[in-house]
Amino acid sequence: MVNKRASLVVLISGSGSNLQAIIKAVNNGDINADINAVISNRAGVKGLQIAEQAGIKTFTLDHTNYSSRENFDLALIECIDQFSPSLVILAGFMRILSDVFIHHYAEHLINIHPSLLPKFKGLNTHERALNAGDSIHGASVHMVNAELDSGEIVIQAEVDIKPDDNKESLAERVLMQEHKIYPLAISLFVDGTLCFKQHVLQFKNKPLLQPLLWTSNKLITP
Ligand code: GRF
Repeated sequence: MVNKRASLVVLISGSGSNLQAIIKAVNNGDINADINAVISNRAGVKGLQIAEQAGIKTFTLDHTNYSSRENFDLALIECIDQFSPSLVILAGFMRILSDVFIHHYAEHLINIHPSLLPKFKGLNTHERALNAGDSIHGASVHMVNAELDSGEIVIQAEVDIKPDDNKESLAERVLMQEHKIYPLAISLFVDGTLCFKQHVLQFKNKPLLQPLLWTSNKLITP
């Protein structure tokens, strides 16, 4: 019997550097799955070119063509479901999703956010970390639920803030860590190391009580 590879769908809105990192991990065998579609709500973005160059099917669904958020989300669902994904991956997808969408993919919808959640939900995270005088910032991979940036945190990477950092230099170092932890989190879901049982996120068959931590290029597990 041939084992069917897991199917992934990635949603983007822009530059697609996380998408690129995920494609690389698929191509070198670190993620045992296929990216079957990349969907953007903006036409002509770099992430679409990255997907096309990798031979992945792309779709542009421009949200401005839909009369409501729900109608856009229903069209997205229709597009995504052709590929029966085990994970729907938000990679810089800059749209608030409606409850209909979130419930449809509950426990299969994952996002990356450029802060150490629950700190700095929402936008301008690097600037806010600097203004707060923090010495540590970072990124979080989390499940998506109905509240913005509030689902279970799967894995975090910490980044030291240097005295001479500005928001651009900090963003750059955080993004480098994003490119490590997002493919890693996806691979752990694909191989079953992370999964939901009775609506509780499990790591190696035990509830994940605190996020996994990526530090000094290695994974710290509970
Ligand atoms: C990343 O910083 C990610 O954390 C946030 O949006 C940005 C996307 O960057 N959600 P890219 O499109 O993957 O380069």
